[in-house]
Amino acid sequence: MKVIAFNSSPHLERSATNRVLVPFLDGMETAGAEVELSYLHRLEIRPCLGCLACWLKTPGRCAQQDDMADILPGVAESDIAVYATPLFVDGMNATMKNLLDRSIPLLQPWFVLEDSHCRHDRIEGYKNGKVALVSVCGFTETDNFNPLVAHMVAACRNMRREFAGALLRPYANSLPELAKAGIDVDDVYAAAREAGTQLVQTGKMNSDTLDRVSRQLIPRDRYIRAVNIHFRQAIRRNLGKA
Ligand SMILES: Cc1cc2nc3c(=O)[nH]c(=O)nc-3n(C[C@H](O)[C@H](O)[C@H](O)COP(=O)(O)O)c2cc1C
Repeated sequence: MKVIAFNSSPHLERSATNRVLVPFLDGMETAGAEVELSYLHRLEIRPCLGCLACWLKTPGRCAQQDDMADILPGVAESDIAVYATPLFVDGMNATMKNLLDRSIPLLQPWFVLEDSHCRHDRIEGYKNGKVALVSVCGFTETDNFNPLVAHMVAACRNMRREFAGALLRPYANSLPELAKAGIDVDDVYAAAREAGTQLVQTGKMNSDTLDRVSRQLIPRDRYIRAVNIHFRQAIRRNLGKA
């Protein structure tokens, strides 16, 4: 089974996104999947020009020559595509959105009806695979991810792929500090790993497992106080006042 994964965080390997993504992919590899991970910030993926040359002039091929040409065949032949993005202003970041917009050459212009909706046909060789979403955010409530999840569910219908579920981790930036404070963060990583194994072995992820990834680790008031102290100290340090 082929898994292709993308991390769109500008923080690359050190990103909070990777804290959830890496164990998730480890779990998939443990279950026998062949996993390929790319960091989108290392690649050149320009915004879509909307010229539709990929449909009307050079079918399946974009008019722009950048790294997208190497990415699309991997997406087409993947059984599972993993899109991992930090939450930026209540949605995926622009880097990830560029990737989705530039995936249009996987579709053909023809309209077809699916579940009473207009869709585009897949190009030949574009597998009917699954999609998993991984996201992290700074705020404490899991409902901050609702617009992103709704968007990804819709994007999967648009891109003719099956949405398999999402690993969502609030205040992921603070996981190392919470671990130092004795809070059981390891179970978040263990749950992410288990979700990866489940997805490869059964095609699904248990909602209990996904809830463990998202679960609250600290009372909200305590967390807000700690964050504000952290920001105040960081600003004082940067201004040379600490
Ligand atoms: C431009 C920008 C917008 C953000 N918007 C949100 C937001 O709407 N909601 C939220 O909870 N966190 C938001 N965050 C916080 C990030 O999601 C959070 O810091 C995340 O852990 C960063 O992950 P990374 O290290 O993988 O990039 C935002 C951060 C940035 C830089």
